[in-house]
Amino acid sequence: MAESPISEPTSGKPWGTAETPYEEIGGDETVLAIAEAFYDIIEAESPTLRAMLPDDTSGSRQKLHQFLSGWMGGPPLYWEAHGHPRLRLRHVPFPIDGAAAEEWARCMRQAIASVDMSERAAAFLGQQLSTAALTLINR
Ligand code: HEM
Repeated sequence: MAESPISEPTSGKPWGTAETPYEEIGGDETVLAIAEAFYDIIEAESPTLRAMLPDDTSGSRQKLHQFLSGWMGGPPLYWEAHGHPRLRLRHVPFPIDGAAAEEWARCMRQAIASVDMSERAAAFLGQQLSTAALTLINR
C-alpha cells in the first residue's frame, strides 16, 4: 500500500506509547538525570542563570527533580514536600526577561538531549518545557 501521511504511526501519545512521559522515559532515574544535567549545564556555561542561583545548587537540583516527577505524570514529590508549586509567584524574585527564558529553555533541551530517551519523547518534553519557560517571563 502507498505511504501517506495518515499511515504514519499516529497511535499512542505525543510523547510515545507509555501512559505518561514519566514512564516513557524510564521513571525516576531519568528525571533525576535531567535535573542534574540541567544544573550542570547552567553551572558550566550560563553565567546569566548561574547568577540567580545560590552558591550551593543542591536544593535547586532537588526541587527541580521533585517538580518534574509530578509534572511528567510520576509521583507528585514537589507537592508532597512543598505544596502547590505556584511557579509564577516563586519566580517573581528573579529577573526573567525573554533572553533568560530562552536561555533556560536552551539549557533544558540540552539536558534532555544528554540523557537516553526516544527522539519523540525528547521533542515533546523540550517543547512543553520551553513553552512553560515563556510563561514565567516577568520583566
Ligand atoms: C524562564 C526561565 C527560568 C528561570 C530564569 C528560572 C530560575 C529559577 C531560579 C533562580 C530558581 C531558584 C532556585 C533556588 O532557590 O535554588 C528557580 C526555582 C524553581 N524553578 Fe525555575 N526558572 C525558570 C523557569 C522554570 C520552569 C519553566 C520551571 C518548570 C517547568 C521551573 C521550575 C522551578 C522550580 C520547581 C523551582 C523551585 C521553586 C521553589 O520551591 O523554590 N523554572 N527557578
